[in-house]
Parts: sequence; structure tokens; C-alpha cells
Amino acid sequence: MKLKIAVLAGDGIGPEIMEQGVVVMSAVAQKFGHEVSYKEALCGAHAIDEVGDPFPEETFQTCMEADAVLFASVGDPKFDNDPTAKVRPEQGLLAMRKKLGLYANVRPVETFDCLIHKSPLKNEIVSGANFVCIRELTGGMYFGEKKEGTEEAYDTNYYSRPEVERILRVAYQYARQRRKHLTVVDKANVLASSRLWRKVAQNMMGEYPDVTTDFMYVDNASMRMIQDPRFFDVMVTENTFGDILTDEGSCITGSMGLLPSASTGEHTPVFEPIHGSWPQGKGLNIANPLAQILSVAMLYEYFDLKEEGALIRKAVNASLDANVRTPEIQVEGAPKYGTREVGRWIVDYIKNN
Ligand code: IPM
Ligand code: MN
Repeated sequence: MKLKIAVLAGDGIGPEIMEQGVVVMSAVAQKFGHEVSYKEALCGAHAIDEVGDPFPEETFQTCMEADAVLFASVGDPKFDNDPTAKVRPEQGLLAMRKKLGLYANVRPVETFDCLIHKSPLKNEIVSGANFVCIRELTGGMYFGEKKEGTEEAYDTNYYSRPEVERILRVAYQYARQRRKHLTVVDKANVLASSRLWRKVAQNMMGEYPDVTTDFMYVDNASMRMIQDPRFFDVMVTENTFGDILTDEGSCITGSMGLLPSASTGEHTPVFEPIHGSWPQGKGLNIANPLAQILSVAMLYEYFDLKEEGALIRKAVNASLDANVRTPEIQVEGAPKYGTREVGRWIVDYIKNN
């Protein structure tokens, strides 16, 4: 297969982990005879500094012309501490989501047995937890009508029926391929927008008789996620709830540096780690490249290249088992590996297996 990849490395540790994502992508391509070409483009703080726009038109065009976008991370503390800043790196991310029509954000929450001790929860509660959160990504309060005055301010949690329908369809497709259990998370006891979600889901569930659909209020879901994460298989929810719940989900596994994500929709899909740009780790060769590398696995799988994805997952597991790990997950006393060294080990494994 021929694949054109737009490479958006962004800020902080982004360029370092991206480098490892790309070498792994190339090693797999070589092994399976795929032709992959890469085109780098600016985004985030980096792009603000260079051209004054966190998601420049040229980057948008590069994304539109590509088959997939491999994205790392954006953000810079100099913007966080400046409330008067007119543009922020995060706006680039939101612009990318909107302009590429990336309405479905897929965030798997998976535990790795050898890292389970890193979870803040009891091991017997999290062991074996494996679910996917499907977060609606281009609607709700993030993009609804806003007012930002000095005396009053609001954000509108707007959803239309077609927006809800299309994300529910994505969620049902995932549920069908997994354990056939979909939980629709909302706040229908209070919010009108949530009642629309619930009505649409109730109308649609008859079309998926093989999937068990249940409904859960978001406050209850946030509790259930830490009490009994194995309850969940596929969870679907609106943009803001999904933002909050996926951070919760990422930390229950104890390994935020290992979780990839995919965003799909109307145009080019985007694959990225769920963690941020970790400015403190920048340039130190200590950032964990595994979430970026697993994002490459999700990219291959999106194009139905299952063996390619599986080999990357196998290589990642093997690196963990061999204790080839970056400092934050390394076991006591074992040598700590850098970002590059972990990437190189995985590339070698791919070549030899
Ligand atoms: C995420 C992030 C973004 C969001 C920020 C950086 C705009 O937290 O991808 O979850 O809120 O969606
Ligand atoms: Mn978030």
C-alpha cells in the first residue's frame, strides 16, 4: 500500500517522540512492502512563533493531501502563564479537529500487566480493564456559541441530531467488533442536550440488537470507572464529558505515556498520543515514545493492515517485558533507557521478528 503521511510533531517532547514513531512506521513499511512518504508541517506554539498561526493554512493543506496525519503534541508554558495571549497552541488543535471534521475521537484504555503496579488503584480492580472511550470531538461547548465578557460569560452546549447520530454509529461499530456492550454517558437528568443524545440513542438501539446498550449519568460513570473499570467495553459521550473522562481513564491504567488515540471523521484521520507536550522533558531524551509508536499501530489498523499493527503491539510488549523502558516506568535497579534507545530496540525487534 502507498501511504502519504503528514507529520505534525508540534512542541515540547513532540519532535523526539515523533522521530521514534516515524522510524517504527518505516521499519514496518519496509518489512511488509508498503511505500510510505512523509511531509512535515508546523503546528502549535512552534507555528505561532514562526508564522503567527497555530494551525497555518499550509499545514491544513498538507493534512488534506495526506492519507493520514501523525500528530505528537502541542503546548508551551509561556502561553499558559499569559492570559493576554491572543493565540494559543491549543487553538491549533481545535482548528485542526474542526477543519478536518474529526468528530470521532477514539481513546482506548488498556492495562499492561507488567505496569499494573503503577496504577493508583488496587491491582485487582484494574487488572484486565480494557475499554474504549469514543468522544465526540467537534461539537458541544467547545464549539458552541460563546460570550466572554467581564461581567458574564457563557459557552453553549449545542448538539444537532445528525451530529449525535453519526458519533453513535461509530460507537456501535466499535461495540460490534468488541464485547458488544455500549454505554452512552450523559447528564439527561439535567441537560437538554443530553436528553437529545438519549432520545437519538434510544431510537437507534433497535438497529443494533446484537449490542447491549445502557445509559449512565456522567457523574455515576466517573465513579464506576474507578470502582469497576472492567464494566465498560465501549463508552460514547459528548465532547466535554469525554475530555474529562478520558483523562480519568488514562490514569487508571497507570501509564499515560502508553496510550494512543485516533480521531476520524470527514477528512484525513489523525493519530496521536493522548498525553501532552511535557515541556519539562523536552530535549532530555527521557520521554516515553510508546504512545506515539502505538498511534502508528492504530494508523496501520485504520487502513486494515492488521498484521502490521499487531507486530508493533507485539514489539511494544516485548520491550516492556525486556525492561527496555524509559525512566518513569522502569523497575527499580534496572538501567533506564532513553526515548531513542527504546525506539531503536523496537525497530530492531520489528526487523528480526
Ligand atoms: C485533549 C486536550 C485538549 C482538549 C486541549 C489541549 C484543547 O485536553 O485532547 O483532551 O480539551 O480537547
Ligand atoms: Mn483533555
